[in-house]
Amino acid sequence: MQVGGRVVVPSRVMNVMSVPQGEFKLARYPIRPKEQFRAWDAADEYLLAAVAGEADAPIETPELRGRNVIINDSYGALSVALSEHQPSMVTDSYLSMVGATQNMITNRYTDALDSRKSTDELPFPIDLALVKVPKSLGLLEHQLHQIRQAAHPGTVVIAAGMARHIHTSTLEMFSSILGPTTTSLAKKKARLIFPTIDFELEVGASLWPKSFTTDDGLVVHSHAGVFSAGKLDPGTRFFLENPPKIGEGARLVDLGCGNGVLGTVFAQQDTDVAFLDKSFLALESAKATYEDAFPGGEARFVAGDGADELSDDSVDIVVNNPPFHDDQALAEATAWKMFNDAFRILKPGGEFWVVGNRHLGYHAKLSKLFGSRTTVASNNKFVVLRAKKPLR
Ligand SMILES: C[S@@+](CC[C@H](N)C(=O)[O-])C[C@H]1O[C@@H](n2cnc3c(N)ncnc32)[C@H](O)[C@@H]1O
Repeated sequence: MQVGGRVVVPSRVMNVMSVPQGEFKLARYPIRPKEQFRAWDAADEYLLAAVAGEADAPIETPELRGRNVIINDSYGALSVALSEHQPSMVTDSYLSMVGATQNMITNRYTDALDSRKSTDELPFPIDLALVKVPKSLGLLEHQLHQIRQAAHPGTVVIAAGMARHIHTSTLEMFSSILGPTTTSLAKKKARLIFPTIDFELEVGASLWPKSFTTDDGLVVHSHAGVFSAGKLDPGTRFFLENPPKIGEGARLVDLGCGNGVLGTVFAQQDTDVAFLDKSFLALESAKATYEDAFPGGEARFVAGDGADELSDDSVDIVVNNPPFHDDQALAEATAWKMFNDAFRILKPGGEFWVVGNRHLGYHAKLSKLFGSRTTVASNNKFVVLRAKKPLR
């Protein structure tokens, strides 16, 4: 996939990763002037040491001459360090894809990175798969099934993650889908995982994508790793109970659409809807949900950071349930970016509708940006707010 143009990355947001393969300057994406975090972690370092035969790993140093696939590389640390072996990078995140491309350019690699979306098939056959353990067990399950299908008897799989993200259930997932699995000692709080693919193992088919039906009869489809797959999130439910009124022929944006439930429920037959998310699997889910509800309907499904891909003053209404993370600073920064984007893409007089936990203080943020806001509904946990972009 071709992503982004040339990005000028200020050196103050770059850090140097020193690994057996060399020294590489890396930055996260999107670029934030006051970025506090590095673009890689100790699990990336451990994995790169294992690939170089310097990690005390209970496996032979893997060959890199065949087809190498890197799955869930956060911002390209692994792909950049191993770029001379021309790996394929597979990710569910548009931000990771752009970040990796940007880091390839920074490190003067002129060959385009073979980056693939998690909705694509894996290259076939794979000789070496390097996997960063994702936070979502569902996504891991989906990816391990993909690896199994693309593997041959000589395929080597090495996974890595921070110890806090590797649970018994994570290791069971490896052993039930791939085969016998061992782990390394922890190093800088990171661990390596070594599954051996057992082709005799009886493995059922992947259970993804999954669907559920809301009380109103909407069938919601979710691919692996998508927010609230399998059930309606209580915040989303509260929003659905307090819907915006959508005018005839309105242009509606579901910003951070996940499985697309908000945009699909709020849309009328003649609504021009755009579903936006950074996750490719989320967009694929939203497409399935929308097309089930509006057979033959035409909506747009756009991967990007916030609403970067849409033009100013172009839409009538934006609906949003911003992401929440264990990392509160990141959640706040993303919500603030989404609110600013909503303000930018709304036509004057257009409306932004957002649901959130009461304690998150979205009220003040919306008042600051839009000049005022109205509380549409609130209960002991959630609030639905509406803000109107002033007429010029
Ligand atoms: C709380 S979920 C809401 C999903 C859906 N709207 C719902 O209510 O069920 C937030 C969504 O925002 C997406 N997201 C997070 N950061 C993003 C970004 N920078 N740009 C676009 N989407 C993002 C996530 O992938 C996730 O699908």
